[in-house]
Amino acid sequence: MAERTPIIAANWKMHKDHLEAIQLVQKVAYHLDEPDYEGQEVVVCPSFVALRSVQTLLQSERIPITLGAQNCHHADEGAFTGEVSVPMLARLDVRYVIVGHSERRALFDEDDGVVNAKLQAVQRYGLRPILCVGESLEQRRSGSAVDVVTGQLAASLDGVSVEDPESLVIAYEPVWAIGTGETATADDAQQMCATIREYLAEHWGQVLSENIRIQYGGSVKPGNIRSLLAGEDVDGALVGGASLSSEDFALIVAHRR
Ligand code: PGA
Repeated sequence: MAERTPIIAANWKMHKDHLEAIQLVQKVAYHLDEPDYEGQEVVVCPSFVALRSVQTLLQSERIPITLGAQNCHHADEGAFTGEVSVPMLARLDVRYVIVGHSERRALFDEDDGVVNAKLQAVQRYGLRPILCVGESLEQRRSGSAVDVVTGQLAASLDGVSVEDPESLVIAYEPVWAIGTGETATADDAQQMCATIREYLAEHWGQVLSENIRIQYGGSVKPGNIRSLLAGEDVDGALVGGASLSSEDFALIVAHRR
C-alpha cells in the first residue's frame, strides 16, 4: 500500500496584497501547532507580488509552510510583457506551481497545449506542477465527466515523464464546485480521483501511479474536509475561498485534531 503524504494547498487567487498576505500567514501559523503540520504538506499560493514577502516570513519565522505560485509563463525568459517565468519563481523558493486552473482555462483561454507547455517548464526547473483538471456541470450532466478529465490529462501530460512521484500533483476540481458552495460528494471526489489514478497507472505503471498525489478542490471547507479526505484516492485539497480566512484554513489543515 502506497504511503502518500497528503498535500493541502491554499489558492488565494487575486486576493491579498503583500501586507495582507503576511498577516494571513502569521495568523494561520498562530492557530496551528507543530503536530498539525506533521505527516502532510501545507502550501500557500499568494499572488506574484506577495511571494517575496511571504517567502521571507516563512523563512525568518521557520513556519513549515511551502510556497506555491498560481501561474507561470512557459518560456524561460523573453519579450512577454507582464509574464513571470519559472526560473524567477525558483529564485523565490517557490516549490509548487498551479497549472491549468479552470479559471485560467476559461477566462484566459489557456488550452491543453498551453497547460502542457507550462507544466513542462515547471518540471524543467525542478519545481512541482499542481495540474488542475475537471469537468463543467454540463459535461457532468451529459455523462462525459470521465472523458473530459482523462482527455485533459492526456493532453496536459503529453510528452511528460515523471520519475519522482512527489514531483507532480493532480488536482481534481469539478468546475461546478469552484467558488459556488457546491461540493462534490465525498463519493464523487473519490470516484474521479480513483479514475485519474487508473489513467496514470495505464500510462506510467502501477507503482508510480500509486505514489502520485491527487487532490480534490472545489468549495472545500472546515466542515467537509474530513469526509472528502476519507476517500482512499484523495490525497489532499486545493482550497480557494476558505483559505482566505485564517481560522478556516487553519481548521482545514488541523482537520485531524
Ligand atoms: P474554492 O476554489 O475552494 O473557492 O471553490 C477552489 C479553487 O479554485 O482552487
